[in-house]
Amino acid sequence: MQNTLVIIKPNGVRGAIIGEIIARFEKSRLAVSAIRLRTITRAEAEGFYAEHKERGFFGELVDFMTSGPVVLLALRGEKAVEAVRHMNGATNPANALPGTIRFDFAPNTGENVVHSSDSAESAAREIAYWFKADELTEYTPASYVL
Ligand code: RTP
Ligand code: MG
Repeated sequence: MQNTLVIIKPNGVRGAIIGEIIARFEKSRLAVSAIRLRTITRAEAEGFYAEHKERGFFGELVDFMTSGPVVLLALRGEKAVEAVRHMNGATNPANALPGTIRFDFAPNTGENVVHSSDSAESAAREIAYWFKADELTEYTPASYVL
């Protein structure tokens, strides 16, 4: 079992597709272990995306990520990191495969609707960045039992 951190970006929240996105994860046997909806601060966005701070798009990325509420979501399941990146699709939605979230909903790379952790190590760091240990739950949804 693995954990991963997803962010439904401000255009996903404004687009009223929170439920659609979370439903896709739940149907893929990824359990929501923590969830919160709020507008993050510039300092939080800059810290979260620190690895990109020298990149040309950093300012735009921080502007966008703080432009409205986001959903912070910790998910748990088999191969959760790879599974969610697969379901999200390519960073540039022009390269995303049909059936992925970015293919279906993302207008461009900057506003690509969802974030997810790129490794188990990133997931541990990113989940701890947004959630306290006692906010993470563990349970097996009944619908997963075949
Ligand atoms: P994410 O971290 O958001 O899941 O996306 P990713 O791994 O596919 O992409 P990453 O390289 O980590 O970039 C983080 C986010 O920065 C924005 N970006 N904009 N305008 C650009 O060229 C550009 N490149 C990246 C995207 O919103 C990307 O998700
Ligand atoms: Mg990334």
